[in-house]
Amino acid sequence: MCGIFGIISTKPDLVVGRQIREGLERLEYRGYDSAGIALVNNGKIELRKKSGRIAVINKHGWFDSTPGQFGVGHTRWATHGKPIQFNAHPHMDCTEKIAIVHNGIVENYQDLKKELLLRGHKFKSDTDTEIFPHLIEEFIAKGFSLKDAVIETVKKCHGAYGVVVIHADTPEYMVVARKESPLVIGIIPGETTYCASDIPAFLPLTREAIILDDDEVAILKPGEVEIFRVYEGTQKEISPFEVSYTMDAAQKTLDGVQFPWYMIKELHEVPQKIKEQVQIPQTDLDEFCKGIMESDHVFITAAGSSYYAALAGKFQITKFGGPYIEAILCSEFIDLVPNIPKNSLIIAVSQSGETADTIEAVRHARDKGDAKICSIVNQIGSSLTRYSDQVLVTTAGPEIAVASQKAFCTQVTALTLIGLRIAELYHTLPPMEIKAYRESLANTSSITKQILLKQGIIKELASKLTEYNNIYFLARGISYAAALEGALKLKEVAYIHTESYAAGESKHGPIALIEEGFPVIFVAPPDQTYSRIVGNIMEMKSRGAIVYSVVSDEDENVTSISDYVIRIPIRKNKYAVETSIVPFAFSLQLLAYYISIKKGLDPDKPRNLAKSVTVK
Ligand code: G6P
Repeated sequence: MCGIFGIISTKPDLVVGRQIREGLERLEYRGYDSAGIALVNNGKIELRKKSGRIAVINKHGWFDSTPGQFGVGHTRWATHGKPIQFNAHPHMDCTEKIAIVHNGIVENYQDLKKELLLRGHKFKSDTDTEIFPHLIEEFIAKGFSLKDAVIETVKKCHGAYGVVVIHADTPEYMVVARKESPLVIGIIPGETTYCASDIPAFLPLTREAIILDDDEVAILKPGEVEIFRVYEGTQKEISPFEVSYTMDAAQKTLDGVQFPWYMIKELHEVPQKIKEQVQIPQTDLDEFCKGIMESDHVFITAAGSSYYAALAGKFQITKFGGPYIEAILCSEFIDLVPNIPKNSLIIAVSQSGETADTIEAVRHARDKGDAKICSIVNQIGSSLTRYSDQVLVTTAGPEIAVASQKAFCTQVTALTLIGLRIAELYHTLPPMEIKAYRESLANTSSITKQILLKQGIIKELASKLTEYNNIYFLARGISYAAALEGALKLKEVAYIHTESYAAGESKHGPIALIEEGFPVIFVAPPDQTYSRIVGNIMEMKSRGAIVYSVVSDEDENVTSISDYVIRIPIRKNKYAVETSIVPFAFSLQLLAYYISIKKGLDPDKPRNLAKSVTVK
């Protein structure tokens, strides 16, 4: 979280402030509570920062008109210190010659700050970040170059950082450093160098990129980059690569249709993205399948929607003949599995590939237990891919709305494909059945398309549900993952308190809250859980709940006892039913979007959230 974008160039007509502001706007998905820019301007630092979103702060061109030759900007997701002006980045040292932006958390900042205060430094913010400029200031006063001062400073910091440092007296270069927080460099050789938390910041300006690794520091000059290893002190050869994707995803237009929000545009991409996912070559899955089948212990780990995709995926892999898989939230992983069993495999699922807890889990499993890491990632080249033995890339493409939706749909599809490939390679299902499952899975693309064509009932129910402050989501079996995803989406984009329970568990507590008019949403496909779900619906109804159910097109029983239903057009056979979790979850994602809109909220950038959660 937090977006960083810096520029150093020899281009004579470059309006640096404006270009940094534009780059920051492309990173706003990483955090958007405050923003700031610092430029080196004829031996001085020109600093502008404020709370709020970039477009509002820059309304009268405040950022664009920052005078200066080169510099850096930051869009923040607050960790240490409220999202107010003086906590916004960049931060400066006592001499006001050094400015710095930071993404990550310095875990030992309190000790370092205490020492700096004792040595007379004045702090202006509550952030952990501010220790950087003061430490660098001290090393420079001792005679270190800016590069060496940054190296000595990061050696003192525990935790995660992506930092960019500029110095008013060093106009020929700036310095970046990275540990566990992403930092990428863009380059136009001989002319301009960019640094950013993510490639989209500079993608419209250059496609040539370099990824900085952990414990590396780089000197950025206009169109020139030198990388050094912090601990070895040696220089590393740079290896630029060409970014293959484009910025089309940054438009709210799809097939000539202009959408009001990214979330609804991206939901409309789901049918195509599922289609692309099921078409990946089967052989791409073989190493993954081999890893799963030849390991003694298989764990799956993720956060947020990716965790719910993981839950659905583990269910499918086991059902199609794979081993039992233990699903663990990545933030709990190191505490729950302190000792990694021998011959373990970890499946890590992540849209961004940058979620700090997911990375911590896989590093723990790899470094402490020698586990094999297989990742399902949407962002090519992200940190998680660098810690993995095998990577399966999902086909969702860039997802801009902060709350995941199309990424979830492709993750579940990818994991289901793995389950079916295991069935094929290890003969756990007859070939005819595998074929039937695969056809049904491919058909979920067309089902989601049909759901998009018939959104009337979803919009109607959205109007009814806006009035509630509390909603339960209940389901059984694999549908529980869909219920969890639906409940999370409603929290994220509509600010409604939701709880999702395995329906059978609802009798053990949650039912105490049911009274006349309490809304309960059931996910009720016609699978083996159906008759038990009917029982759970009756229990809720008889206590006054208003029941909303997501059912199959031809459903009769649940429909007859529900107050309202959303119908999912699935074929009436076990293969279609058992591969239908994505369409069921998708209808709930759509429902959450319309509730958000009816409430007049911003579904793309919900308050307090960020798309890429790079702090633990
Ligand atoms: C954030 C996003 C969620 C996402 C979660 C995990 O909370 O807002 O939509 O599911 O992070 O992110 P990942 O990139 O690891 O899938």
